[in-house]
Amino acid sequence: MAFMYLRESIRAYRERDPAARSVVEVLLCYPGLHALIWHRMAHALWRMGLRLPGRLLSHLGRFLTGIEIHPGARIGRRLIIDHGMGVVIGETAEIGDDVYLYHQVTLGGTSSTHGKRHPTVGNNVIVGAGAKVLGAITVGDNARIGANAVVVAAVAAGTTVVGIPARPIERDRRDRGCFDPYGTPAEAALDPLLRDVETLRAELAELECRVSRRVSAG
Ligand SMILES: CC(C)(COP(=O)(O)OP(=O)(O)OC[C@H]1O[C@@H](n2cnc3c(N)ncnc32)[C@H](O)[C@@H]1OP(=O)(O)O)[C@@H](O)C(=O)NCCC(=O)NCCS
Repeated sequence: MAFMYLRESIRAYRERDPAARSVVEVLLCYPGLHALIWHRMAHALWRMGLRLPGRLLSHLGRFLTGIEIHPGARIGRRLIIDHGMGVVIGETAEIGDDVYLYHQVTLGGTSSTHGKRHPTVGNNVIVGAGAKVLGAITVGDNARIGANAVVVAAVAAGTTVVGIPARPIERDRRDRGCFDPYGTPAEAALDPLLRDVETLRAELAELECRVSRRVSAG
């Protein structure tokens, strides 16, 4: 089972990172993969109630990779942490499948209570370099968070948010049929018809986001 997870993670790096040339290169040179392996071991100890050994393993992983993942964090399959240095993932953070994080991303808390205080990130989300996602908020499936954004409110599925505080962009021109390594669409994907469809989708996502903000504001 562990071997299968490792294999699919390596495959994900090779498919999604244009710089990854071979299995051996990914295995030897990708701190994001190493951090994930340390985390899987630390998380297993944590779940067995071995809290201090779990934290120690996690600390060792941080020392070796520059990526800090609390052993309590719940992480789905095929997470990619590209470059990695400076990433912080808090104790009650939850991450879905096929998520892509860049260096210096923080999935952090905003309160000192012991309960859920870190974000829940859906499937297939991209979080740009330096972005901070703070509090027990939800980032919906297929969302994109721009580099250096500070996200303090829920992000609707399929939305792209940028800035401080993060807000949805007006016009989302991505090609949803394929993965864009930097979260940005290839020019070839920008044919006029597709662009119009994408604009309609973006407007729908924006409306969903406004509705979810109204609902969460009560
Ligand atoms: C957010 C992101 C996914 C949007 O990509 P996109 O769909 O191609 O969006 P565009 O470039 O068309 O930009 C749309 C608008 O958002 C703005 N914008 C894009 N990224 C932004 C960011 N990180 N912060 C603030 N504004 C940003 C653009 O200036 C543009 O504004 P305008 O409509 O007023 O002109 C992308 O810009 C991004 O930040 N990707 C992360 C990449 C990364 O971290 N790379 C690290 C590699 S090591």
